[in-house]
Amino acid sequence: MTVPQAYRPAQIWLHWIVVLGVILQIAIHEPIVRVLAARDAGTAADASDVTLAWVHVSIGSVIMLAVIARLILRWRHGAPAHAPGMSETQARLASAMHSALYGLLLGMVVTGMLTWNGIAPLGSVHFAINIALFFAALAHAAAAVYNQVVRKDVTLSRMTPRLRG
Ligand code: HEM
Ligand code: HEM
Repeated sequence: MTVPQAYRPAQIWLHWIVVLGVILQIAIHEPIVRVLAARDAGTAADASDVTLAWVHVSIGSVIMLAVIARLILRWRHGAPAHAPGMSETQARLASAMHSALYGLLLGMVVTGMLTWNGIAPLGSVHFAINIALFFAALAHAAAAVYNQVVRKDVTLSRMTPRLRG
C-alpha cells in the first residue's frame, strides 16, 4: 500500500466527531449512572434521567460506528507517515498512542454496552477506562499542539487542514 500524503477528509471529520462525542459522553454521564443504580436497587428511575441515559447510549453508538469506520478507512487507505523531523522514538510513541486511543475507545464501547444491556456489570471498568482515555487524549492533544507550536512541524494541521494556510 502506498503511504498517503495526508489524512482523507472522512478521516479528519470522523476524528473530530469522536472528540466531540467523548466530550459529550463525559458531560452526560451522571443520569445513566443514576438509572443503573435505580435498576440495581429495583426502584423506578427519574424519567429525564432515562432520556439522558439513552442520549449517552446513542452518542456512544455514534462513537462506535465512527471508530469502526475509521479503522476500516485506515486499513483500506492507511495513514500518512508522521511529520518529518520527528525522531524514531517519538514517531513510535505517537503510533503506540494512536493504537492505545483506538483500543481505549473500543474498550469504552464494549464495557458500556455489556453494562447497559445487563450482560456484565462492568461500570467500574468503564469508569477506569474513561480515566485512562481522558489522560491519554490529553497527552495526545498536548503533543500535537507542542509539535505544531514549539517544534513548528505540521502535526496539528494534518487534522486541522484550515491551519495549513
Ligand atoms: C467513548 C465513549 C464513552 C464515554 C467517554 C463514556 C463515559 C462514561 C462515564 C464517564 C461514565 C460514568 C462512570 C462512573 O462514574 O461510574 C459512564 C457511565 C456509563 N456508560 Fe458510558 N461512555 C461511553 C460509551 C458508552 C456506551 C457505548 C454505552 C452503552 C451502549 C455506555 C453506557 C454506560 C453505562 C451503562 C454507564 C453507567 C455505568 C454504571 O454506573 O455502572 N457508555 N460512561
Ligand atoms: C477524545 C480525544 C481524542 C481521541 C480519542 C483522538 C484519537 C486519535 C487517533 C486514534 C489518531 C490516529 C489517527 C490515525 O492515524 O488513524 C489521532 C490523530 C491525531 N489527533 Fe487526535 N484524538 C483526540 C483528540 C485530539 C485533540 C484534542 C487534538 C488537537 C489538539 C488532536 C490532534 C490529532 C492530530 C494532529 C492527529 C494526527 C497525528 C499524526 O498525524 O501524527 N486529537 N487522534
